[in-house]
Amino acid sequence: MNETTTISPATITEKLAWLELRYWKFGQDDTLADHLYDLYEFDNEGFMTPQPRRDPLTGETKGLMVLGGSGNGKTALLKRTLRADPVLREFKIDEGGNTLFITVPPEATIKKLAEIILQMTGYAKVDSKLRAADAWEIARHRFGLVGITTVVIDECHHILRPGPGRDVLAAIQSLKHIMQSEHGVALVIAGVPTLRDAILSEPSGETYRRFSELRLSRIRPGSIAARRFGQNFMKSAQMLGVQVRAEDALADRILFAEHGQVGKSVALAKEILRNAVTRQREALSLEYAERVFRKSKPDLEMTPFHAAAWDAVKSELEAIGWGQ
Ligand SMILES: Nc1ncnc2c1ncn2[C@@H]1O[C@H](COP(=O)(O)OP(=O)(O)OP(=O)(O)O)[C@@H](O)[C@H]1O
Ligand SMILES: [Mg+2]
Repeated sequence: MNETTTISPATITEKLAWLELRYWKFGQDDTLADHLYDLYEFDNEGFMTPQPRRDPLTGETKGLMVLGGSGNGKTALLKRTLRADPVLREFKIDEGGNTLFITVPPEATIKKLAEIILQMTGYAKVDSKLRAADAWEIARHRFGLVGITTVVIDECHHILRPGPGRDVLAAIQSLKHIMQSEHGVALVIAGVPTLRDAILSEPSGETYRRFSELRLSRIRPGSIAARRFGQNFMKSAQMLGVQVRAEDALADRILFAEHGQVGKSVALAKEILRNAVTRQREALSLEYAERVFRKSKPDLEMTPFHAAAWDAVKSELEAIGWGQ
């Protein structure tokens, strides 16, 4: 997974655009890559190929389940991997590619998902009277026809939601069939932790056992991920020409303020940096950071950005139950 070299942004507009698009690595990329390696064949040079690894006796491919609470960075991680990985390239109808990335809409049924796949792979004749099983058969056939060897289904929990007119068991089986057909593809599904529970509801457990699991969690204080968050923050500040004092422990305060939730922590960190760039400040201060934070939390008496030593502020906030 290679990294392109970055050229320092110079103007305010360039800086803001750079900051917005900047992906922060916490080590989850490496963990995902490690899981993905198990889904594919390798060549003699030791490189992963786009060819799914098949069970020699059954011909079946494998799956990976990416689980995490809302905002923990599942979509960002998967999309980033597709952009950066030299082997997996997102399929677009006019551009080719080997990896189909599907985001399941909230109300979609399993049949709707098959129809989405047909549309995305350029099958124009979707007949609304088509039965779900037939739509899936054509969809699986399309993978082979257009050269798709990996399918990523984001927000997959939506198709496994019970309710009137929704057949959860059939939906689980459709996922299994993706890995069983003649044009079997490597399957990555992502969603909130109830996705796993839903797949486990199949009494035989035959679909569940075909998946390995990757869980994205919050960033815990003192963890490697927390240290990397801090490094990303400092690196970004440096690229933007904004000075940060290490003793202010800004990154730790940001993680604490947002309870280590990845999406919110990154968003707050970027907002604090953005604030400094747009106001053309040369250095960050706790006062400015607090002002940014208070815009979304105006009622707090004391915030993690209180201008005193971080250890003392942290103890005081913990005493009033902040970390809970
Ligand atoms: N490593 C990262 N670097 C920069 N931004 C990130 C990173 N991870 C997540 N984000 C940002 O945090 C926000 C939440 O992330 P994302 O949408 O990927 O979470 P999710 O787990 O897919 O949530 P949901 O279950 O609600 O879809 C997004 O705005 C995303 O761009
Ligand atoms: Mg998402």
